[in-house]
Amino acid sequence: MPATVILGAQWGDEGKGKLVDRLAEQATWVARFQGGNNAGHTVVLGDQVLKFHLLPSGITRKECNLVLGDGMVIDPWVLNDELVNWKESSDEDPRGERLFVSERAHIILPYHRYMDSLDSKIGTTGRGIGPTYADKINRIGLRFGDLSEVNGDSNWAESTSERMNASLDAAGSTERVSKQSLLDDISWICDNFSSAIANTGLMLDNALKLGENVILEGAQGCLLDIDQGTFPYVTSSVTSRGNSTHGAGIHPGHVEEVIGITKAYITRVGNGAMPTELLDEVGDHLGTVGHEFGTTTGRKRRCGWFDAVVMRHAQRINGFTGLALTKLDVLGGLDEIKICVAYELDGQEIREMPSSASALERCKPIYITMPGFPSQTLTEWLGIAKKANSEGKGFSALPSAAQHYIKQLETLVGVPCTSVGVGPDRDATIDLVE
Ligand code: GDP
Ligand code: IMO
Ligand code: MG
Repeated sequence: MPATVILGAQWGDEGKGKLVDRLAEQATWVARFQGGNNAGHTVVLGDQVLKFHLLPSGITRKECNLVLGDGMVIDPWVLNDELVNWKESSDEDPRGERLFVSERAHIILPYHRYMDSLDSKIGTTGRGIGPTYADKINRIGLRFGDLSEVNGDSNWAESTSERMNASLDAAGSTERVSKQSLLDDISWICDNFSSAIANTGLMLDNALKLGENVILEGAQGCLLDIDQGTFPYVTSSVTSRGNSTHGAGIHPGHVEEVIGITKAYITRVGNGAMPTELLDEVGDHLGTVGHEFGTTTGRKRRCGWFDAVVMRHAQRINGFTGLALTKLDVLGGLDEIKICVAYELDGQEIREMPSSASALERCKPIYITMPGFPSQTLTEWLGIAKKANSEGKGFSALPSAAQHYIKQLETLVGVPCTSVGVGPDRDATIDLVE
């Protein structure tokens, strides 16, 4: 079986966790390949709400192996907390058994968090992501595979803490890193994770050669990509298809399916332009009905109409083979639904996203309007999804205005919808019937 890539197509929080958990039923490996615990992926199983920042969302499937891949930055303390929580609910400690941490992945240390806490421009998650990737690019970062070489090395700890303190001082931070705390931290990480550190790219390659099914779970979204997103208001990794295999340590030829996840509207956390942002009662409706609060930081997400300009950009970068539409239920109860099809920039109509942040700030959305459909309770939507799947009805089980809306999005983006989410629950997804 080939690898399947699951990617956020907007500014993150599209519902990646939910889709990965669902697809992982058919997989034996789920791998994260970039980002770190800036991610917050939610899986809802009946009354149980699971939130993962580092653990791949396939952990819910006992037969699934899990990889934290080469391209990631990992805070070992956050990973440990997640593992403790997981052990409490499942009585399982998967590290070294079915959870493997790449020897090439970089380590987020307290120093990186201190540096990130100084950010006031981007609105980062404050988890140390950017500073850790900066150290990687500067070729001074620490990788899991290099831990044993520095464990107990007091010369290394001395020079590293001096360098960190000079950077903290220059950046205006009052935090400091002592040589002893660094030595203690490295020793703790070794004690807790040595059994899980592995050449994970090789493991995934072997699995694919044996015909196993591998899911590559993206974090963040296309518009947060360091190269192709709304720079500088982006994260510090390549979130796109091109990095999914590279960051997992396998070649791109393994990939056959690339699913782009998109909400039926759009949200963004943090700073930066968002042309379709709604600061009116419709924005309140989306935020309230959709419970739009960040999974990692709890910040209120900014909400707006679906933006086809954003989606065409995401499609050009990623070549999605299918779209997973989520949160269609949240639009229920609105009289009309708008879709942004182009922007007006300085009096001109444009159909592509400008690369400049200030130009994007000046973009005004050009909308088409579609009729709305009635609101239903989550229980009613869940019933519709279960019935649609069990009776093989597909999207025809949805209200006709919702079906027209989906068709319009498919036409504007140029990619077919393969599933439609109508609630947070694992089963509240309607699959396409061919
Ligand atoms: P991720 O980062 O892409 O995994 O997404 P998050 O978990 O951060 O945010 C998505 C939120 O939407 C979570 O609270 C999910 O439980 C919820 N969600 C996912 N799909 C749907 C859906 O189709 N309808 C509704 N109402 N909620 C959904
Ligand atoms: P998931 O995987 C939404 C945003 C932050 C900030 C910018 C940079 O759950 O979709 P960073 O801490 O990465 O340096 O912050 O990126 N951001 C996300 N927004 N979902 C995410 O992840 C995000 N990860 C980072 O809010 O604007
Ligand atoms: Mg999220």
